[in-house]
Amino acid sequence: MERLNSILRDPCFLENIRRTNEREKDRIFCRHGLDHLADAARVLYILVLEEGIEVSKETAYTAAFLHDLGRWVEYDTGSDHAKESAKMAEGLLDRHGYGGPEKEVILLAIRGHRVKGAEGILTDAMYRADKLSRPCITCSSLALCKRFASGEKAEIEY
Ligand SMILES: [Fe+2]
Ligand SMILES: [Fe+2]
Repeated sequence: MERLNSILRDPCFLENIRRTNEREKDRIFCRHGLDHLADAARVLYILVLEEGIEVSKETAYTAAFLHDLGRWVEYDTGSDHAKESAKMAEGLLDRHGYGGPEKEVILLAIRGHRVKGAEGILTDAMYRADKLSRPCITCSSLALCKRFASGEKAEIEY
């Protein structure tokens, strides 16, 4: 996990997290800081193991830790944060030793993480891990959340 840890220490990574935290400080719905990224990484890796998806632990964790990095840009400009996060991830991946097919798998997972069944071997699992990692059942804003507007039940599965 050496390359992932070097990304997590990178000032560019930390500055983007800081900007998202700042914009979400009064948000009553799910936030997108480090806790969410770590939760999503762990659930994603469980899915990788359960479903036999052929990526390394570090590949899965890297995709999850970067998948919402550009969230603050969406608050500021309305631009899709999946696209913005993929753009930011590209530079970080290049600087920290990722390349070839691994880099492509990570970028596809980030870019497609809001779309069910999008292209890429890790992408659909990233889409699901993003949601499954949320402890919605305990959320005080559940009644207002559009994800549960159609009467869906919030339950912990992972
Ligand atoms: Fe997201
Ligand atoms: Fe997310």
